[in-house]
Amino acid sequence: MDIPQSTKSLGVTNEHDIELRLKENGLEIGGSYKPKYCRSRNKVAIVIPYRNRKVHLIIFLSYIHLFLQRQQLEYSIFVVEQTDGSPFNRGMLMNIGFEEAQLQSNFKCFIFHDIDMLPENDANLYGCPEDGKPRQMAFTIDIFEYKSTPDGYFGGVTAFSIKDFRKVNGFSNLFWGWGGEDDDLFQRLSFHNLTVTRPFDGLPNLTSFARYRTLYHTEEKPNPERWRLIQEGKWRFQTDGLISLQYRRLFIKFKPLYTHIYVDIKKY
Ligand code: BGC
Repeated sequence: MDIPQSTKSLGVTNEHDIELRLKENGLEIGGSYKPKYCRSRNKVAIVIPYRNRKVHLIIFLSYIHLFLQRQQLEYSIFVVEQTDGSPFNRGMLMNIGFEEAQLQSNFKCFIFHDIDMLPENDANLYGCPEDGKPRQMAFTIDIFEYKSTPDGYFGGVTAFSIKDFRKVNGFSNLFWGWGGEDDDLFQRLSFHNLTVTRPFDGLPNLTSFARYRTLYHTEEKPNPERWRLIQEGKWRFQTDGLISLQYRRLFIKFKPLYTHIYVDIKKY
């Protein structure tokens, strides 16, 4: 399937068209899917942190549902939206998605996914990683001219078993604004002796499989505090994360294409 940059290129003009089309494919309310003719080995929760990206949301959902369904995956999509006010906190929204999804069902693993990243190759499997092997899914990305991302890159799209995400205490809650929370998460993995894996590890054509296209957006304002926070990370890994997560859930809505969780979070 071609990667869209606009909803028009999908042959649809609005969300309702997409909803109808995906419903025919068997998508259930809340954006959940189970393959019809086989039993999936994995039940995956996909968590998307979100604010003010309506067009990206429609493009992402229209693309990713069909992509996951071609892989015969059992999954649900959770969009965790932050209220206006404080700077965006990607890590905290991921932590919230992790906790909220488990209130809904017994997922086996989680994929934490930016809304503007579209996997280009169906062979990049979104199944669960084994315990002890969190996975970096995005290996080459168009904005980096499809050069391999550095070993320490753990952003964009990452997959975790439930056990491992708990073990590392999730993301830090302290990164407000763009950047750093993924670097901090990478350090948490090393701290806990977890090895990062990549799809197709060991295969020569890794770069051609784990490719991602990004949807265009203007650059976000980087968080000036991020370097200090990353440096001080190891003193906080045990106390800052899932264990200290605080938020107010304003609503949860089971929409045709996704489960929408709207939350208020505070910078203390
Ligand atoms: C930021 C990361 C980001 C990476 C690639 C780093 O400087 O801290 O959050 O993922 O750049 O853009």
